[in-house]
Amino acid sequence: MFEDMKDLLGIKDLQKSHIEKILDTAKTMKHIISQNNKKTGHLIGKSIVTLFYENSTRTRLSFELAAKYMSGFASNISVNASSVSKGESLIDTAKTIDAMGTDVVILRHSRSGTPHLIAKNINASVINAGDGMNEHPTQALLDMFTMREKKGRIEGLKVAIVGDVLHSRVARSNIWGLTKLGAEVSIGAPSTLLPADLQKTGVKVYNSIHEAVVDADVVMGLRIQQERQKRGLFPSVIEYARFFGIDERRLSLAKPDALLLHPGPVNRGVELSSSVLESEKSFVNEQVTNGVAIRMAILYLYTRKGNEI
Ligand code: CP
Repeated sequence: MFEDMKDLLGIKDLQKSHIEKILDTAKTMKHIISQNNKKTGHLIGKSIVTLFYENSTRTRLSFELAAKYMSGFASNISVNASSVSKGESLIDTAKTIDAMGTDVVILRHSRSGTPHLIAKNINASVINAGDGMNEHPTQALLDMFTMREKKGRIEGLKVAIVGDVLHSRVARSNIWGLTKLGAEVSIGAPSTLLPADLQKTGVKVYNSIHEAVVDADVVMGLRIQQERQKRGLFPSVIEYARFFGIDERRLSLAKPDALLLHPGPVNRGVELSSSVLESEKSFVNEQVTNGVAIRMAILYLYTRKGNEI
């Protein structure tokens, strides 16, 4: 199924069966990382390079650990300490990495479409670790994995996504994935933080958190992406938190056994109150664990060729 797929650029490009295969494989990987000895031989002889033009804690470290747990060679290019600072272009940097025999390049960049451009220009597999406001496919996969693990299914779940949808690549990837797997997605955001034509994706859109969250099985808060906002799209962070922050009262509108998710990093007291973040409904730390399992599954599937699977 993945034999002819070189790159993972977005959930938009995947079929339902691809998503399910990645989630199934990640279940095995999660079992492996729960063991005392996490070492497997799935990536023996493979080299993985992370190239991040934006900051990251979770995505970069989890890819690095995933590669190391599976006996791959994991290297990281620190953009500020690389020849990028001498003026080397992105394509030339990627071609240089490729020329060293790299099997997989994990790329994060502030411009949408950058991984697609690089994928066309190098032989290594390119995994999109977040491109501008476009997609963050591995985050959506770990979110869907967490939902399926806790709820036993995705189809028929009501998932409320709350916050800065306009700038959120996490929201875009989740909308693609969740609708392909048959979830009902509702969005709650200020009208200034909503992309045009969102309804065309098949989601329900509300300008209040209450309508979006009511009876939800999963409530996902999004980080306020101040770094992508050229002008004030809401009066102040305090005001945002007052109208769209998820606290105990708002979370209680969802089903009693609803899951609270957030891709991280969380701005405490803005997107989520500390009390809901630390409540038993919060699976934010479990998402981080599942991120390692999902990235192991992706590295495994995208480095197998032909009958190696
Ligand atoms: N969720 C996410 O992408 O986190 P990082 O920016 O820490 O990788």
